[in-house]
Amino acid sequence: MQLRNARYLSRDLLSGFVRPGDAVVDATAGNGHDTLALCRAVGAQGRVYAFDVQRAALEATQARLRENGVLDGRARLICDGHENMEDHVREPVRCVLFNLGWLPSGDHHLTTRVGTTLAAVRAALRLLAPGGAVSICCYPGHEEGARERDALRELAAGLDIRAYNALEARFANQSEEAPCLFLIQRAE
Ligand SMILES: C[S@@+](CC[C@H](N)C(=O)[O-])C[C@H]1O[C@@H](n2cnc3c(N)ncnc32)[C@H](O)[C@@H]1O
Repeated sequence: MQLRNARYLSRDLLSGFVRPGDAVVDATAGNGHDTLALCRAVGAQGRVYAFDVQRAALEATQARLRENGVLDGRARLICDGHENMEDHVREPVRCVLFNLGWLPSGDHHLTTRVGTTLAAVRAALRLLAPGGAVSICCYPGHEEGARERDALRELAAGLDIRAYNALEARFANQSEEAPCLFLIQRAE
C-alpha cells in the first residue's frame, strides 16, 4: 500500500472490494489508467463499464486496454455522461470509481461539474450491490472542484447510516486544497 495521495488510496482500498467476475463502473475513463486497473481486477469473466463525455478519452482508453492485452470484451466504453449511467448499466455493480476534474493533458473546461457529479453519485449508489462501494477522488484546488467537495460532503453526511458507511479521507499534513477521497460502502 502506498499512502501517498487520494488517488493511490482509492486504488488500494478498491482492490479490497473488487473480485474476479465482478461488474464495476469507471465513471471517468479519461486516459484509461483506472479502467485498465479495473479490467485486471475483474478478470476475463468480469465487466467494466467505462464512461466519458470525450470521444478522444475513450479512444485513449481503448488503446491502453489493447496495449495491455485486455481488449477482449470485458470493458464497455460508453460515450455518455456518467449522470446517465443507469441508462447503460442494468445490473448491480461491486464498485463505481470517480476521478473528478479534467484530463491532465486536456482542455480544463471539460471538467466534471457539481450538478452532474451529484446526479451520477446518486445513480451510482442506486446501482451498488450489497457490500459494494463508490469511490470519489476529488480535487478541491480549483473552484469547481471545491464546489464538488462541499456538495459531496453534504451528500455523504446525509446518507442513512443503516444503509451506507461513508468515509471522507484527507491527508492531515497536506493543504486543505489537496485531493481528498470519499468512499461510500453499501451495507451487506
Ligand atoms: C481526471 S480525468 C479521469 C482520469 C482517468 N480516470 C484516468 O485514469 O486516466 C476526468 C475525466 O472525466 C471526464 N468527464 C467530465 N464530465 C463527465 C461526465 N459528465 N461524465 C463522464 N465523464 C466526464 C472528462 O472528460 C475527463 O476525461
